[in-house]
Amino acid sequence: MRWLRAFWDSTVGKKAVMAVTGILLVGFVVAHMLGNLQMFIGADAMNRYAAFLKSTGELLWVARAGLLGAAVLHITAAYQLTQMNRAARTDAYAKRVPAASTLASRTMRWGGVLLLAFLVFHIGHFTTGTFHPAFSHTMVYGNVILGFRSPVVSAFYLAAMAALGLHLYHGAWAGFRTLGLAKRSSAPRERRIAQGLALIVWAGFSSIPVAVWLGILN
Ligand code: HEM
Repeated sequence: MRWLRAFWDSTVGKKAVMAVTGILLVGFVVAHMLGNLQMFIGADAMNRYAAFLKSTGELLWVARAGLLGAAVLHITAAYQLTQMNRAARTDAYAKRVPAASTLASRTMRWGGVLLLAFLVFHIGHFTTGTFHPAFSHTMVYGNVILGFRSPVVSAFYLAAMAALGLHLYHGAWAGFRTLGLAKRSSAPRERRIAQGLALIVWAGFSSIPVAVWLGILN
């Protein structure tokens, strides 16, 4: 087990853990987005899909535990890497001029914190119903429509989806490099893949509150 400790204690080990857990989390996010897009097929399709997920019983709990474990490892590695970076630089920059940064890379930490706050609200909103005005355990379609009738709630979701898109873009691109998959090039294909993935996930999720606002879904 000593090798595992040494691996986790190294910067490279933590980055590898972030990349692998990031892949698991992206897999969930894409599957969840595709599942949610059934809102556009209709209430029956969406409610049936939600009932199917609940009918998987223990499997659902295994998936939830895996997801939670991946998220905890991802966040812990991110936090510890930040601390290690800070410790490596004893005095602060007099003036911080990032050499090669993008909006996405500069918002990773705060975007990540916003996503965490979103998740806490989201589970209380659509899974337990704690923050929902008229929650039903079976009518998931209705929960989503009623949930998004509140402009404040929808605006919060849209802000969180923008943060998710930026986080995914930078995260996927950084992950490709950590795993050594990105080739040296001035316009790497992997950057475009990361952009495409982020754009699809952002648009797919955001389309639902927007469609409720526009009255396309009701
Ligand atoms: C417009 C955007 C979204 C909609 C309409 C939506 C919809 C839902 C619904 C209806 C549920 C409850 C499912 C059920 O109990 O049958 C749910 C659960 C959940 N969603 Fe979302 N979701 C959205 C965005 C997201 C995003 C961006 C994430 C992650 C980054 C996410 C993560 C989760 C998680 C972790 C659960 C709990 C799963 C469980 O353990 O039961 N959702 N979502």
